[in-house]
Parts: sequence; structure tokens; C-alpha cells
Amino acid sequence: MPIKIPRAPKKAEKKPAVRTGKKFGFQSVKGMHDTLPEDFGYRDKVEKAVKKVANFYGFLHIDTPILEDAKLYERGTGLTSEVVEKQMYTIRTGTGEYVALRPEQTPGVVRAYIEHALVYSYNPGKFYYSGPMFRHEQPQSGRFRQFNQCGFEILNSNDMVYHAQIIEASYKICQELKLKNVQVKLNSIGCRNCRPGYVKKLKEYYKDKLSKICKDCTQRYKDNPLRMLDCKNEKCVPFKAEAPQSIDHLCTSCKRDFKTVLEYMDELHVPYMIDVTLVRGLDYYTKTVFELFAGEEGNALGGGGGYDYLSEILGGPKMPGVGAALGVERLIGTMKSQGVAPLPPMQSKVFLVYMGDQAKKRLLSMLEEFYEAGITVHEAFAKESLKAQLKVADKEKAEYALIVGQKEVFEEMVLLRDMKNGSQETVPMKRIVETIKKKI
Ligand code: HAM
Repeated sequence: MPIKIPRAPKKAEKKPAVRTGKKFGFQSVKGMHDTLPEDFGYRDKVEKAVKKVANFYGFLHIDTPILEDAKLYERGTGLTSEVVEKQMYTIRTGTGEYVALRPEQTPGVVRAYIEHALVYSYNPGKFYYSGPMFRHEQPQSGRFRQFNQCGFEILNSNDMVYHAQIIEASYKICQELKLKNVQVKLNSIGCRNCRPGYVKKLKEYYKDKLSKICKDCTQRYKDNPLRMLDCKNEKCVPFKAEAPQSIDHLCTSCKRDFKTVLEYMDELHVPYMIDVTLVRGLDYYTKTVFELFAGEEGNALGGGGGYDYLSEILGGPKMPGVGAALGVERLIGTMKSQGVAPLPPMQSKVFLVYMGDQAKKRLLSMLEEFYEAGITVHEAFAKESLKAQLKVADKEKAEYALIVGQKEVFEEMVLLRDMKNGSQETVPMKRIVETIKKKI
């Protein structure tokens, strides 16, 4: 006998008087945001792409703590980088140590490689990671105080093929996500040997312009002149065009290395352009530096470069490295603006519907039988009426509803309803899992 579905109540259910939205006393901290279920379709898609690309290129998964000794970043990321100078969340613990919420993960990965002597197991060490980072920045579009990065690091090899591979892997993630117009900007900022000579030339160039550039750049002139080329202030932009370029001041080995990277890049079909003003904001970079953009304008999707001395700066052995990180929120923002679909939400083809307490109890154990069989089934046990439960099943696009009432419990039967055409059949409870298995 077909089951009778009760009519909907005439009046909509009254919502309980609770304070929600802005009226609720708590909100997420400025610059930090919740990732709601509807956003996880995007985030999961990014994670899936990262895993696929990482596995393909032989990167191994690594994670390091969110809290590290603050000195790791002061020395590694660098005291003159804006990230450490102005944006780091530093905490003094009860025992007087200074720890920092990681603003980036590269120094942490290098520390872990040295601390665990991973060189004996992984040489070169190829690692990938993904997780939250923290920077006390002024929040704006695509810029948060807590954000997620996915990144790659290759340690202990100075083969330039890995500089190209890091760029390729970063680009591949964008391709996996079907992002359009992604372009790589590339430069070389030299090494210990050639950079001081270049910096001297840069300072000479800016010497008679100090009164005309922004306040931050007058400070950068003293602490980190390279960063003047990164300045977006309208006072400073006009001077960048005539400024000496690092690629004209590379030593023989850096020149050769940059040429090699470009040759590899030409093999890879990654769209790139040389940007002589690209310098990056972290202090450890050497040789190749790069950033990825979707289109001409806007925030970088990711960036990275070589860091030949980071290990030594941290007190470790001589060990070159190269890496990159992509901003997950920025990838998601671009997916949304370019209309890239998220992963569909987790759906179940089968939905359990109960009528009465006895049936609810019986379905609780039936859930476990489906779990053992590896079949996902959903339920709406908190709803009492048959109609309300079927409504959820419908919303979730379930193909079959398994309906059990007191009579069915007594007779050890299940009413199997085909949600598409409304047809129903009764199936013995002990055969329901295998019946469903055949149907889906
Ligand atoms: P980064 O350029 O500072 O490099 O950050 C990499 C990416 O993280 C940026 O391109 C951007 O997409 C994202 N990102 C940075 N800050 C924020 C923010 N406040 N809000 C949202 N997204 C942000 C690094 O972090 C280096 N560790 C990359 C690297 C790895 N270099 C060598 N190995």
C-alpha cells in the first residue's frame, strides 16, 4: 500500500527568538574568517589539485607546528621583511619564551629538515604542505590575517631544473583548477657575491631622489633597498622604470643559472615574462624569484624563489633551497570570479526515514550495517514528521528512501521508495543492504 504523506501545516513554523547575525555578541576576529560548508567545495577542490600535482612531481607531505620560536622567522624570513617587522603575531609564553604564529612555512620546513636529519632519507628533499598562516596585515580584498597557503619546497639541490619545476608545479595547480590567464613573472636577484654591488648601484640611483620618494622607501633605502622596487606608492612608481636592474648586475654563475632556468621554462610551455622590478618581500631569496598572477592586475596568486643561504642563516649546514606558496583564498577568489565550479557537496543516494521511536532505534543499527557495507546513507532523525524527512531526502537528491514504521519493525520489512518515480516496494530488512548495493 502506498504510504500517505501528511499535508504541510498551513502556517510556516515560527522561528525561535534567538539573536543571530550582527545582533549576536561575538564575531570572528578582524581579518579572520569562517570557512562555511558551502565554501568547502572550493577548498576541497584546491586541496585535491595540490595533492594530485604534489604526488605527480614526487613531493612528500610535511607539516610543521603553527607556533615556532619567533627567532626562526626573525632570522629566516628576516627582520627587514614587512612580514616580521610589522605583521608577525608574537606571543610571550608563561615561561618567558617568545613564540610566533607562523606567517609562512618555509623556515619551519627547513628547520624540520635539519632537526630530523632528513637529508639522510630525502636528498633532495621535496616536500609540500598546506595550512593556515597568520599576518597582522590591514585586511582588504584577498588579504587576511589568517589565510591558508599550499606550498612546495625542494631542499639540498642547486640544480636549476628544480627552480623551473617549482614554477611548473605552482602553475599546474592553477591549470588543474581551470584558472584562465595565469601568468608567471620572473626575475633574478643574484647571490651573496653579486647582490652587494647591485644594491650599491641602486642606492646611488636613489640618493638624489630621497626627498621625492615615500616615507617607507626612505627607510627601505637604509634597511633593504631592493624592496624600493616593490613599492606601489605613486610617488615611487615613476622612479622604478629608470632604476638599475638586478639582471644587468648578476655574477657569471647567477647569469648562467638564470639563463638555464629560462631555457627550462621554454621547454615547459608555462607563460612567463621577465619583470625586472620583481624582488619579493621576504629577506631570504636568492637567484630566481617569481610570482603568479591571474590576468594583468590584482593580488599575486602565489610566489616563491631560491633561498641558498636560509639554512646557514638558521645555523644549519650549507644547503640551497627553492620553493613557492600559493594563497588558497586567492585561488578560491579567482575560481569564483572566473566561474569555476566547486566540488559538489557530499551526497547520498540513500535516505533513512522513520516513523515512531521503535523505528528510529532500528534505523540506528541499520545505519551501522550500511557503514560496514561502505554505502553512505543520510538521515534527518531530528525531524519527526514523515513529510519533513522526505523533504530533506528530496533536497539532498537522494534516489531511494528507506521508510520504516512500527509495522515494518514488527514485520522486519523496509519500505523502499524510489524518489524519482514514487514507486514503492517492500524488502526484508536482512536483505536491504544487498538490495541497495545492487541498485546504486
Ligand atoms: P608570500 O609571497 O609571502 O611567500 O606568500 C605566498 C602567497 O600567499 C601570496 O602570493 C598570496 O597568494 C598568499 N598570501 C600572502 N599573504 C596573504 C594574506 N595576508 N592574505 C591572503 N593571502 C596571502 C611566502 O609565504 C613564501 N613562504 C613562499 C615560498 C616558499 N618561498 C619559497 N618557498
